[in-house]
Amino acid sequence: MGEALVVGRIGEASSAEDPSPSVGRNTHCHSALRILSPAAGVEITDIDVSRPLTPEVKETIVDALLAHQLVVLPGQALTRERQFQFAAEFGKVESPDADRRVGKRHGVAHVLSNLGADGNPTIRHSKAANYHWHTDKPYNAAPPTLTLLHAVEVPERGGDTEFANTALAYDALPEQTKRRIAGQRVAFRPAFDDSRPGAVHPLVRTHPETGRKALYLGNHATHIVGLPEAESASTLAELLAHATRPRFVYRHRWRVGDLVMWDNRCLLHRAVLDEHSGKYRRIMYRSIVRGTVPF
Ligand code: OGA
Ligand code: MN
Repeated sequence: MGEALVVGRIGEASSAEDPSPSVGRNTHCHSALRILSPAAGVEITDIDVSRPLTPEVKETIVDALLAHQLVVLPGQALTRERQFQFAAEFGKVESPDADRRVGKRHGVAHVLSNLGADGNPTIRHSKAANYHWHTDKPYNAAPPTLTLLHAVEVPERGGDTEFANTALAYDALPEQTKRRIAGQRVAFRPAFDDSRPGAVHPLVRTHPETGRKALYLGNHATHIVGLPEAESASTLAELLAHATRPRFVYRHRWRVGDLVMWDNRCLLHRAVLDEHSGKYRRIMYRSIVRGTVPF
């Protein structure tokens, strides 16, 4: 993982020298923030998610999410029940996809693992696999705002997750491209079952809380509405290649206890597939928080 670029506290100018005296966990205004990359991501080290959140701590997290799109809360020890309760602080927690994970309990975080039926680590290749750049459930009319992953068991090597900031990517587009794609709408359908209904959303969506524009695309995007097939495909491919350039990407190296929460409205993400994939056990608890209709 990259070096800390800035150390700061909420509401204060950043300073690399700040010794951040400890005043106890879950107290406001003293959260130690470490920016993780110029693309996205901030780590907050003095929050204990196993304890009830005060309004101040919640505000700290929400502000950090809006400013940095992704928040890492390291060193958390959470039950699946407690993770669910924590996620519920930020909105309605969705149950796992009903058709794919039948019989899973609601009211707890669900388990995301790379273990196959025989209990050994494996790689799952499919059109819907997390290895493709995507945002979560864009085929829903109101796709989730947030996803939370808590690292329970991490691989010795590999198993990283990459996040691409599509608001930065949008800002960096040539004006001509911005004009060309303004008002375009993109159709999404679940890549795991394209017979299921999907949704149509703006290709450039406006963040309801920050007002920033961001590209909305990735896996599950089938086409841009009203464009000839070839032009639609090349536009989506061109924009995806642009949005996922290294300068817009933060790569997270997981440590046991990391709780990472990210904003699906302005980030794409993917599980990194490399020579280590499928060799080591990787177990996460996962929760998603319902969002609103994109505009
Ligand atoms: C997810 C996801 C990627 C990973 O949980 O939505 O895409 O690296 N995860 O596990
Ligand atoms: Mn995902």
